[in-house]
Amino acid sequence: MISKSKTAAPDIDKLTKPKAKVELMRLRLAIEGHDKAYYQDDAPKIPDADYDALRRRLEAIEAKFPELLSASSPSQTVGAAPARGFSKVQHAVPMLSLGNAFSDDEVGEFVERVQRFLKLEDIPAIVAEPKIDGLSLSLRYENGTLVRAATRGDGFTGEDVTANVRTIADIPTTLKAKTIPAACELRGEVYMLKHDFLALNKRQEEAGDTVFANPRNSAAGSLRQKDVEVTRSRPLKFFAYAWGEMSDYPMESPTQHAMLAWLGEVGFTVNPEITLCHSVDDALAFYRRIGERRAALPYDIDGVVYKVDRLDYQARLGFVSRSPRWAIAHKFAAEQATTVLEKIDIQVGRTGAMTPVARLQPVTVGGVVVQNATLHNEDYIKGVGSDGSPLRDGVDIREGDTVVVQRAGDVIPQIVTVVLDKRPADLPAYKFPHKCPVCGSHAAREEGEAVWRCTGALICPAQAVERLKHFVSRLAFDIDGLGEKQIVLFHERGWVKAPADIFTLKARNAELKLENLEGYGETSVRNLFAAIDARRNIELNRLIFALGIRHVGEGNAKLLARHYGSIDVFLAAMRAAAEGQTPEGNTSEAYQDLDNIAGIGDVVAEAVVEFFAEPRNVGALDALLREIEVLPVEQAKQDTAVAGKTVVFTGALTKFTRDEAKAAAERLGAKVAGSVSKKTDYVVAGEDAGSKLTKARDLGVAVLTEDEWLALIGG
Ligand code: IVH
Repeated sequence: MISKSKTAAPDIDKLTKPKAKVELMRLRLAIEGHDKAYYQDDAPKIPDADYDALRRRLEAIEAKFPELLSASSPSQTVGAAPARGFSKVQHAVPMLSLGNAFSDDEVGEFVERVQRFLKLEDIPAIVAEPKIDGLSLSLRYENGTLVRAATRGDGFTGEDVTANVRTIADIPTTLKAKTIPAACELRGEVYMLKHDFLALNKRQEEAGDTVFANPRNSAAGSLRQKDVEVTRSRPLKFFAYAWGEMSDYPMESPTQHAMLAWLGEVGFTVNPEITLCHSVDDALAFYRRIGERRAALPYDIDGVVYKVDRLDYQARLGFVSRSPRWAIAHKFAAEQATTVLEKIDIQVGRTGAMTPVARLQPVTVGGVVVQNATLHNEDYIKGVGSDGSPLRDGVDIREGDTVVVQRAGDVIPQIVTVVLDKRPADLPAYKFPHKCPVCGSHAAREEGEAVWRCTGALICPAQAVERLKHFVSRLAFDIDGLGEKQIVLFHERGWVKAPADIFTLKARNAELKLENLEGYGETSVRNLFAAIDARRNIELNRLIFALGIRHVGEGNAKLLARHYGSIDVFLAAMRAAAEGQTPEGNTSEAYQDLDNIAGIGDVVAEAVVEFFAEPRNVGALDALLREIEVLPVEQAKQDTAVAGKTVVFTGALTKFTRDEAKAAAERLGAKVAGSVSKKTDYVVAGEDAGSKLTKARDLGVAVLTEDEWLALIGG
């Protein structure tokens, strides 16, 4: 994913103006989306390095075509507008962002620019500060008392988080100093210590709550809580490093380093690593030293910020669009390491999706031991991106390859490149398995989809719980007293692994003894078995739906059931269609017949045949059919009183359920609609019918009671 954007994007030099316009629009939408994910949802979707690359590209195109620059471009704004829920706060002085330097040369250029601008012979003193990876906060103090705390938001308007901020011990509610400015906005970074983040995540996971991707998201998520008590329970910390409005400065000839010392005096924590530098080499040495210690620091940093020390210089330098001329961020390169990919494993998800995972020789990346990296899907391994463009310059990934892994911004490591020089000449390309590693069923990949899926819907242990839950759901077998909770429990105990097992529970109960389960007694067990027995007669459409075949929902199940009429005809047709399956396609008559059913398209037909082409599914279905009887579908009768009529059911029905009413009406050839119109023939109104009844009366549509409806359809 990472190299894709770099290799696939057209060269800026070759862009024509119309193409540039389109490209700017694309970049703008992408950046805005990522801003929202990062600032409002605290859930970034791409690593910081990729985000920076998008911004740099946008800025480079705008530099080449200045006439295309608009005021609403992300290059002219910061962050994302405040999220709903917190009230808005206008910053007295905007909270702007920082320009980035990615190399030593770019840091040198920054200092030269400052010198040129100020016409200085000598290099000005520069403060080097760790760039804390948290979220920035502005605190307004009036006469030394905290009156308002706000997040950055879009730089001009942030969210009012005063109540939450009052719970953070590092933030003083009153400033300790003899003379304090009448009004000041003091600023810095809210963050979470790495070990606090890990402990919090562990607690969250145990409680089944949100698990955060990294300390930054965890700090942001913890601060922006509607319930202040939740914020209080989170270990948030704060480093002060900047300010906005200051009615006066607390010293003569103020400097960045003197202001930091003052922030420390009035009660803030100031980062102890901050260093005053007198040359570019000093500043770069600081960057290198802190970079080496990065993993060992108790908090996350993502670079170094260099700031011109003298505030009078800062004032003269001022701002360009969204960032100050007097400061720059020197980001760390995404953390990378080289290791060997030992093996590719396939994980099977709850819905059968097969995801390849790289097992790596353990390697430390950014202070964390990495052993696994996701490989997404077959195309990704082959070096093809989701949009068909080449990834990693089209280089595939093989078991035994030496690879460069990266952790950037988030915790999921990725494979950036393959070191081809180290690939043994005879290393075979990876063959994506066409069989499920969990149950051995064959796998299928739909056209236009990147994912291979296990077809063993009925028997694959990786999918079992999900499938069984579906099997007993309301529109499928709908067994009273056998819901998701019981399915999970019975599956855990190994009592129900496949649908047929539900119907053999009673016979096995001498051994299982369900009545000994907590919350069960003899009566409830008897009731459960009675409810299961009641479902030994099941309509064909419900059975087909219950199988959980991909793309076969309630509607398609009905189409299939009506077309084939009985289970025997259906099974014979499916067997014939499955036998016609060849790698080149399926020309069997049975397949053509299936594919020709009105409303059933190729995708559905193929999914149905894939299901029946897997002998394990057929085996599980046979076992089920030994336990139950499938009722043939009565073909829609064309000679009934309601054939061809449109009916709407409304209000609380007491004689039958809504589903039963619908099924009966459809069986008799009527169409059941959800809303009343001139085309409606009958409205069947139960108790407390509301607007639909009124509308029916207004339109003069015939309104029937439940009894009148039953009489009309013959009971
Ligand atoms: S100074 C006008 N100093 O980095 C510039 N920012 O990319 C004000 N950050 O929004 C920012 N550590 O959230 C500054 N020592 C530091 C910082 C720092 C972290 C963050 C801050 C800012 C972002 C800019």
